[in-house]
Parts: sequence; C-alpha cells; structure tokens
Amino acid sequence: PIRAVARMSQDEPDSLEALNAIIARSEPLVPGATQAVLGEGPVGARIAFVGEQPGDQEDQQGRPFVGPAGQLLSRALEEAGIDRREAYLTNAVKHFKFTLRGKRRIHEKPTAGEVSHYRWWLDKELDFIAPKLVVALGATAVLALTGKQIPITRARGPAEFGRPFEGFITVHPSYLLRLPDEAAKTVAYQAFVDDLRRAHALAA
Ligand code: URA
Repeated sequence: PIRAVARMSQDEPDSLEALNAIIARSEPLVPGATQAVLGEGPVGARIAFVGEQPGDQEDQQGRPFVGPAGQLLSRALEEAGIDRREAYLTNAVKHFKFTLRGKRRIHEKPTAGEVSHYRWWLDKELDFIAPKLVVALGATAVLALTGKQIPITRARGPAEFGRPFEGFITVHPSYLLRLPDEAAKTVAYQAFVDDLRRAHALAA
C-alpha cells in the first residue's frame, strides 16, 4: 500500500486515470477512512471546485460532495446556472478524518501538515483537468492552492493563485449549514450563489 504522502518519482502518472489509480490504492495519512474519494468531472472542465476533505457520506459512497454540504452545493450550483456534471469537483484532502462520538463519526478538520501532504495530488489532478478557473471553497482549499492561511471574508472573490488557471475564493457550503440563525443563513446562501454566478461568468 502507498501512503497518502506518496510522490513517486519513478511512477509519475501520465494521465488523470493513472493518478487516480495511485490515489485509490493509497493508505489514508490518518487511519480510519473507508476509501479515498477521488475528484469527479470531465477532463477539460472549464470550472473546478476544491473543497476541504470528504465527509461521512462521501467516505461511504466514494464520491465527493454527496452529503449535506454537497447537496447544498448542488442546489447553489444549479441556481447559479452551473451544470454540476460539466464541472470538476474535488477536495484538498482525499480521505475522511473523524473522531468517534458514540456511533457517530464527527468530521475533523485536516491540519496544515495534512493539507500539504495531499497537495501534490491536487496540483497534479488540476494539471490534467486544466480548468480556466478554480474555485476554492473555504480556507482549507485556499491553503491547499496557495500555501497560505488567508481569511475568507477578506479574500472572497477573484484571486491569484499563481497557477496556470484563474482563481476564485468563496465560503465552504458547510459554513452555511452551521449558521445558527435562519435569516443569516438565507443572506449568506444568497451571497454564495452570487459568488458562484460570478465565478461561472469568469470561467466562460
Ligand atoms: N465537504 C467537502 O469539503 N468535501 C466534500 O466532498 C464533502 C463535504
């Protein structure tokens, strides 16, 4: 088995398929995950979305953004006029990390060290997808794409990642789910959809 940190100089993947095969047979950096959750979407997608790490549902189903945050993202994408099937969706970290509370698996945020270990994979897959624009969903994605800790509220909007694609920063959909107040949630959700609409226009 290959550890998630693997960067095999003799085994440089020459396609997304080859890269995904390496990711799929890797061991999680932190033990516990059922499987690696690969990115999803077509090579050549004009817009790519980078989240944090798979959640409980994603870990079980082996697909990104299928749990509560993913469903919210799907709805927001649709409202923003983005066809999810034409976009590329992936995560900074490819394995679910959690702590057990009774039978529940509670998501644990990846450390900066974990993010940097997984970074090579993210860079590689984005090279293969070659999108026009990459949207960072939340601070972990920004860290993975820039190597810097940047507060989302200040950096929100078009961004320079120093990479061959344009960048865009917005909040993570799970942030919207965590807002305690319904009115605040509605406002924040609308701002999220507005961001996605703007990103969609930039990716056109
Ligand atoms: N949150 C993420 O960041 N990624 C997923 O795939 C699901 C939830």
